Amino acid sequence: MPAYPLKIAVLVGSTRKGRFGPVVADWFVGQARQRGDMEIDVIDLAEVNLPDFGDEEELEAVRTLAPRLAAADGFVLVTPEYNHSYPASVKNAIDWYLKEWQAKPFAFVSYGGVSGGLRAVEHLRVVLSEVHAMSIRDTVSFHGAWDRFDDNGLPREPKGCNTAAKTMLDQLAWWGGALYTARNERPYGT
Ligand SMILES: Cc1cc2nc3c(=O)[nH]c(=O)nc-3n(C[C@H](O)[C@H](O)[C@H](O)COP(=O)(O)O)c2cc1C
Repeated sequence: MPAYPLKIAVLVGSTRKGRFGPVVADWFVGQARQRGDMEIDVIDLAEVNLPDFGDEEELEAVRTLAPRLAAADGFVLVTPEYNHSYPASVKNAIDWYLKEWQAKPFAFVSYGGVSGGLRAVEHLRVVLSEVHAMSIRDTVSFHGAWDRFDDNGLPREPKGCNTAAKTMLDQLAWWGGALYTARNERPYGT
C-alpha cells in the first residue's frame, strides 16, 4: 500500500504575463487540499523559469525542479489551450525530464475559449505516453474560462466543476496508489 497521503504535484502550465492560469489553479488546489489522501506541491512553471530545452549552460533551474518531480506520485497539469494545443512552456517542461514522469499518473485541468482546453489535453495524452506517464481519463475543463470565475477567483457555478474535480481526483488517487505499489514492488525499467 502507498504511504498516504500521496504526493501530488500540481503544475501551472501558462507562463505568459497577464495569464489567467493562477485563478484556475488556485481554485483547483483548494479542492485537492480538502482531501485527506493527497499532499499537494504547487509547481508554477512561471516561477520555476526553466531554460529552453537543450541549454546545457543553464541547468540550475532544471536540477532544482528534478527532486520535486521525482518525489511526486502523480501530477495534475493546469493548462490553457493555445492554437488548438498546449503552451510551449508545458512541452519544454515535459522534454527536460524523463524518469521523473515514468509510471506515474497525469491528470488535467484545462481551460480556454470555446474548446475549454480539451484539444490541448488530447495532444498531451500522446506526448505523455512517450515519457511513460499514465494519463487520467476524466478531466476538469472550463470553456470561456474568464467568465466562469467571479472577482474573488471562485467559480460562479461551483457544482459542476467541483464534481468534475472530485471524479478526476478519485481516479488520480486510484492510479497513484496502484502505480506507487507497482513501482515499489518492481522498479519501472525502460
Ligand atoms: C496564442 C493564443 C492562442 C489561443 N488559442 C486558443 C484556442 O485554440 N482555443 C481556445 O479555446 N482558446 C484559445 N486561446 C484562449 C486561451 O486559452 C485563453 O486566453 C486562456 O486564458 C489562456 O491562458 P492563460 O491566460 O493562463 O495564458 C488562445 C490564447 C492565446 C494567447
